[in-house]
Amino acid sequence: MGPLAVTQLLGLMSLTVALDNGLLKTPPMGWMAWERFRCDVDCKSDPQNCIGENLFKDMADRLAEDGWKELGYEYVIIDDCWMSLLRDKQGRLQPDPYRFPGGIAKLARYIHDRGLKLGIYADMGTFTCMGFPGTTLDKIEIDAQTFASWEVDYLKFDGCNSNPVQQMLGYPLMSKALNDTGRPIAYSCSWPCYQGGLPPYVNYSLLGDICHLWRNYYDIQDSWDSVLGIVDWFSSNQDDLQPAAGPGRWNDPDMLIIGNFGLSVDEARSQMALWAIMAAPLIMSNDLRNLDNSARAILQNKMAIAINQDPMGIQGRRLLQESSRIEVYWRPLSHSASTLAFLSRRTDMPYRYHTSLTKLNYEPGNYKVYDVFNGSILTRLNATTEITISINPSGVVMWYVLPEQQSKQTEIPQPQMASQFFH
Ligand SMILES: *[C@@H]1O[C@H](CO)[C@@H](O)[C@H](O)[C@H]1NC(C)=O
Ligand SMILES: *[C@@H]1O[C@H](CO)[C@@H](O)[C@H](O)[C@H]1NC(C)=O
Ligand SMILES: *[C@@H]1O[C@H](CO)[C@@H](O)[C@H](O)[C@H]1NC(C)=O
Ligand SMILES: *[C@@H]1O[C@H](CO)[C@@H](O)[C@H](O)[C@H]1NC(C)=O
Repeated sequence: MGPLAVTQLLGLMSLTVALDNGLLKTPPMGWMAWERFRCDVDCKSDPQNCIGENLFKDMADRLAEDGWKELGYEYVIIDDCWMSLLRDKQGRLQPDPYRFPGGIAKLARYIHDRGLKLGIYADMGTFTCMGFPGTTLDKIEIDAQTFASWEVDYLKFDGCNSNPVQQMLGYPLMSKALNDTGRPIAYSCSWPCYQGGLPPYVNYSLLGDICHLWRNYYDIQDSWDSVLGIVDWFSSNQDDLQPAAGPGRWNDPDMLIIGNFGLSVDEARSQMALWAIMAAPLIMSNDLRNLDNSARAILQNKMAIAINQDPMGIQGRRLLQESSRIEVYWRPLSHSASTLAFLSRRTDMPYRYHTSLTKLNYEPGNYKVYDVFNGSILTRLNATTEITISINPSGVVMWYVLPEQQSKQTEIPQPQMASQFFH
């Protein structure tokens, strides 16, 4: 690290709330290319699925026309492999001319015209993870300016091919550079991923100051194993991770893979429930042109979405791991409400789990319970009442729980939920 870098580093110590620009008070929702479409650059023989402007236009059309946008799914996010291998004469990043013939600004206009927002990808380092031009420290300002000039709304800033010192400098510098553009741009930092995701290597307080969200852990893959691995890591480390989250600052366990090939219907519900509990970004990576009805129903479940988007923005926690391999997750919500998810890690048959709200630390009294995925309502559930819940293998039962007092006082706790459940 040269003397200039040291000075910059010291200067950054006083940089605190550079990105407190009011964005992402609730976790972002939308669609991202990576998990499903990866680095398919073969637009000649796979024009439907390659990373090119048509894929992003198709997804924008689906988000706008198939009821997603109204539910909050608004970001269309390009991941790696969009770039030309060369910067232009002015040193700016440019899209691959064959795959993005209209350019990014035009694509942004197309997406904005449909009431949606555009996200893009860059990498703090010499090359992106897939070998496209990286954003070295000297390129941070020009890249931020370029994205703003294209009217980009979200940046995922990856961290392949850089060292810890460069990352320590680069992630805050990009935050400041984005702020300096004057355009509100949501900023997703992959920094903690490259530092093992935990203190003391990761300073979550600093991350919350400079980024709106951050990837903590490995990429998700199209399998239940991958989902469970992520959930286990986040839950095992929840004492460090859970307090880091709040409005404008989110942990990101990675994309929703619901609608792809790796999850059963029960597993898909489990991912949706756990991501809602974790206050995780709801960013799908699937093919919205070909989605079966069960995946659509899970991803468009209004109550799961409302729980995820709760305005208090408190991340939930794993409460219990039973020897029966049932796990209980909990998240406090506004209006004294809360949500519970009962997850089965069993592989035999539906398990009849016996519990009561008292056993799950609830105050005495009566509660109203809404089952998020089957729509049924239990009225006057006394906290002490012993209940039996049937949970499918690798499935989940998810509840929205409201104290009875509160359900009388609170006219409409969650407008979205109300229309569906309060009649
Ligand atoms: C820049 O940062 C300041 C201070 O946190 C904030 O008030 C402002 O909204 C930010 N602007 C943008 C465009 O991010
Ligand atoms: C973490 O960052 C904050 C700034 O947000 C700073 O005040 C604090 O000293 C840092 N903690 C450590 C252990 O470096
Ligand atoms: C809940 O049940 C307990 C024990 O059966 C009873 O004492 C209590 O009055 C009940 N609470 C309410 C609010 O009905
Ligand atoms: C829905 O799930 C609840 C448990 O959350 C259960 O009591 C109820 O019987 C289920 N209803 C249907 C129609 O399956």
